[in-house]
Formats: sequence, structure tokens, C-alpha cells
Amino acid sequence: MTKPVEHLPDGFIQAFHQNDAAIRDEVMTGLLAAEARVAPKFLYDALGSKLFEAICELPEYYPTRTEAAIFARYLPAMAKAIGVGVTLVDLGAGNCAKAPRLFDVLAPRHYVPVDISADFLRDAVAQLKCRFPDLPITAISMDFSSAMALPDAVGRDRRLFFYPGSSIGNFAPDAALAFLRRLRAACVEGDGGGLLIGVDLVKDKRLLDAAYDDALGVTAAFNLNLLQHLNALLGADFDVRDWRHRGFFNVAAGRAEMHLEARRDVCVAWPGGRRRFAEGELIHTESSYKYTREGFLQLLEEAGFVASRAWIDERAWFMVCHARAPH
Ligand code: AVI
Repeated sequence: MTKPVEHLPDGFIQAFHQNDAAIRDEVMTGLLAAEARVAPKFLYDALGSKLFEAICELPEYYPTRTEAAIFARYLPAMAKAIGVGVTLVDLGAGNCAKAPRLFDVLAPRHYVPVDISADFLRDAVAQLKCRFPDLPITAISMDFSSAMALPDAVGRDRRLFFYPGSSIGNFAPDAALAFLRRLRAACVEGDGGGLLIGVDLVKDKRLLDAAYDDALGVTAAFNLNLLQHLNALLGADFDVRDWRHRGFFNVAAGRAEMHLEARRDVCVAWPGGRRRFAEGELIHTESSYKYTREGFLQLLEEAGFVASRAWIDERAWFMVCHARAPH
């Protein structure tokens, strides 16, 4: 995620690369806060991205397969709402597994996968280019969570921002609204367009607890791997065995949370800093907000989108929305 990739293939753009010093500052500030925290984007180094793929296969982690079932069932209706020939901007594309399922019905004119993990994206795009040799593909490695200035190579044709997987839940509600506003602005920039987004819905706490703390411990490995990533980024000396995973649904806050909890008193050091953690002390690593149908549609409206439509599975666990950006 942090290192510029050398020898980029054609059509691959590494945009807005945050420099190493800024990344270190961001991580250190979070680690030294009274309630220590690390942004969830740091979960996705190469191994973290693979562990997330494994999470999506777990029986407890329902969002991926529930969303896939919604797409399988309602794709023709979605295509009718969207229209063909869009520039499909796939935010957080990762292994580019989801968007190609839309290609047949949406017939995109241009595919633009965007992901923070450059190495992961590069491998996925190489495979896609073999599968779809006639589709123009511009892959962009960037952190789109705080700014949405797309490079000129994306063009100004009608853009459909595709943001599946309920990743919008990883923003706090205020930040989610600001992010959606940036997307709406980026649609208008590109001659109209819209958003196709997956949203996880509020449900029984037991289901959500299990989804964020699975029996095999894959989510635990995903969370703990963050410490190895921090060791690489900061030169820190976290010992993974000193920490345990905590994952649960916080009903009052309406969000699933992941934390790392110190198993014993530990002192972690890195060049230029150190911090003691008492036994039981937490590092907050992720929040995953869950929405009601009405709550999310209202958020889309506040962000300036119009004509929102929602498709929901029969258990009402997950929702896919399409919304237009007015001209
Ligand atoms: C990527 N994001 C939507 C996932 C989520 O559910 O918040 C990340 C994840 N964290 C734990 N399991 C999956």
C-alpha cells in the first residue's frame, strides 16, 4: 500500500501517493492518542488483502454472498435504472472479482478499478486484461477515502461509481456523508452518472458478533496482521502474541467494532517513539456502521443524489442502492 510500484504496466496509474513520513505521522498520532487507534486502511497490506478475501468465504461473514445474491437476482432491474456504456469506477476494487459480473449487462465503455493496495490491484488487472482484451482498463492505485480527484485518463464520460461490499460502513456517518458528496461531485464532473453501492443493514447482534469474530479465527488473523504491517511501516516491535482480537456489534453505536487488546502489560517501541499498553488496553482498528434502509436513503439524499432505488434480500440483511447524480 505504501511503496510506489516500479515498472508499472500500461494503463496503471499510481496517484496521490502519500509519502512515507506522512504515513508514519498518521500511524504514530493514532498510537499515541489516549484511546489508541489505527485507521482500517492499514489492515490491507498484501497479506491483509488476502485474509480479507478469506473472510468473504467464511460461513459467518454473510455480506459478500448476500450481496452477490442480490446482484444475481436484480441485475436486469439495476441495468435498466443505470443504462449501458458507463465508465465503471470500481472503488476498493481489490481482486476485481465483483465488477466483471456486471460487464455483460452494463457493457461499460471503460473500466477503472481503484484500490489502495497497488500490488494486489496490479495482479488482478493483469488477469482481467486477458479475459477482456477489448475493454479499456485504467487501474488507479490511490487512497480515495479523503479525496476523489481522479486523473485525466478517466475521461469525462458518464461515470458510475461502484462501491460494493458495505465499505461505506467503515466511515463514521459524518465522514460517509462527506464521502458521498465527493462522489456526487465527481459524477457531475463526468457528465451526470451515479452510484451503485452495497450497504449492510442493522440486524441481530448474535449474527453480527459472529461475523466479526468467526470460529476459525480468520478475522482475528486479519486484525492481528495489522501489527505486522505497523512493524513494517514504522519499524515498530509489536509482538503479535501479546495481543488478542476483539470483534463485536456495539448496539448503542450501531456499528461492529474491531479492537486489538493487550494480553499483558507491553511496551512497544519504534524509531522516535514508544508506548506502554496496560493489560486489557485496546487499539481501535475498525468500525463498520450498519444502516436502516430509510437511514441510508436519507443519507444519499443529503449528499445530493436523486431517484434512489434499493434492492434487498428476503432476510433484509443487505441492500444494494442505485442513485443518480443530477446534472
Ligand atoms: C471492508 N469492510 C466492509 C469489511 C467490514 O465488514 O467492515 C472489513 C471487515 N472487517 C472485519 N471483517 C470484514
